[in-house]
Amino acid sequence: MTDHIKLFIPGPVEVRPEILKAQTVPMIGHRGKPFEALYSRIQEKLRQVFFTSRRVLVSTSSGTGLWEGAARNCVSDDPTRGVLATVCGDFSARWADVFEMNGKAVTRLTVKQGCAIKPEMVRQAILEHPTPFDAIAIVHNETSTGVMNPLPEIAAVVKELSPDTLILVDAVSSLAGVKIDFDGLGLDVLLTSSQKCFGLPPGLAFAAVSDRAMARAKTIKNRGYYFDFVELEKFLLKNNTPATPAISLLFALDKQLDDMLAEGLEARFARHARMAAMTRAWVLSRGFGLFAETGYESLTVTCAANTRQADIGAMNKYLATQGMHISDGYGSLKGATFRIAHMADLTEADLSDLFAAMDRFLAL
Ligand SMILES: Cc1ncc(COP(=O)(O)O)c(C=O)c1O
Repeated sequence: MTDHIKLFIPGPVEVRPEILKAQTVPMIGHRGKPFEALYSRIQEKLRQVFFTSRRVLVSTSSGTGLWEGAARNCVSDDPTRGVLATVCGDFSARWADVFEMNGKAVTRLTVKQGCAIKPEMVRQAILEHPTPFDAIAIVHNETSTGVMNPLPEIAAVVKELSPDTLILVDAVSSLAGVKIDFDGLGLDVLLTSSQKCFGLPPGLAFAAVSDRAMARAKTIKNRGYYFDFVELEKFLLKNNTPATPAISLLFALDKQLDDMLAEGLEARFARHARMAAMTRAWVLSRGFGLFAETGYESLTVTCAANTRQADIGAMNKYLATQGMHISDGYGSLKGATFRIAHMADLTEADLSDLFAAMDRFLAL
């Protein structure tokens, strides 16, 4: 048994020692010039990662906080409009619940677990609804099933049929591992968490927000306070935050963004694509299946169908002795699937070590 268990789970992910260390520099106050300089540097780099010239809000919360923010800021209380929530697994189902819990009218477009949301399904849902939706919610990468939805094609259908509908995207388990061109696709909210492809500890969430989403927010009452986009932007313009932020995590983010840009975003995306291909090849060559519908397999997390009925609990016990950990299936898919995350700063060499260890377990 080793002390350090390397994480191959889809969040929290393995964090490099340099990034952990960046959190330990002496504390600064958040109402002074050093903080403003830090926040401004971070903003400039985040915009590159989100492919946007617009604002990227930073929230001291996990991604769920910004789910709530998107619900409260972008969807009116008009019950005839509401949100079209696309549901293809447990995370997208939960975001739909969050809209509902915030009093918004929700129309669900649901597909079977393992399947992807297709543009033609969105087309039909928009055409069937008597009024334009205020917003559509799409989880780009459904972490529970390993499905990556065809975001550009879905966004194009929304733009064509319902141009005033805001496009809200959860890219919690894909952003910074896969290119998502916020400005190019004309998205309105693109949110993610720090503990996935950013390779940071949990505790921060980020959201690019379009001008028209900001304009929409200003028309909506009862946005709450902590996730009020208008309030967050007011402070962001002064390189500050309404409440005390997780300053240590911001130090780590500053360093990680430097490292990500030094690697090169295209190189980072290519590494993720190679790791995904390598993982799928291992899964299939060992007699397991891919749970995701063909053609929609995630580039950041592979959900293997446990067709060999391997004991995943026992496999993880063995992997722990080798200093590694993978994920069991999520929720109702526990045992029937298992998940290997290949995101953030993991490399092909890390995956080779993992697969060698999994092979040893399977041969036992
Ligand atoms: C696709 C997706 N959305 C949202 C969440 C929730 O994010 P957080 O745990 O950062 O609140 C997760 C968490 O795993 C996720 O995978």
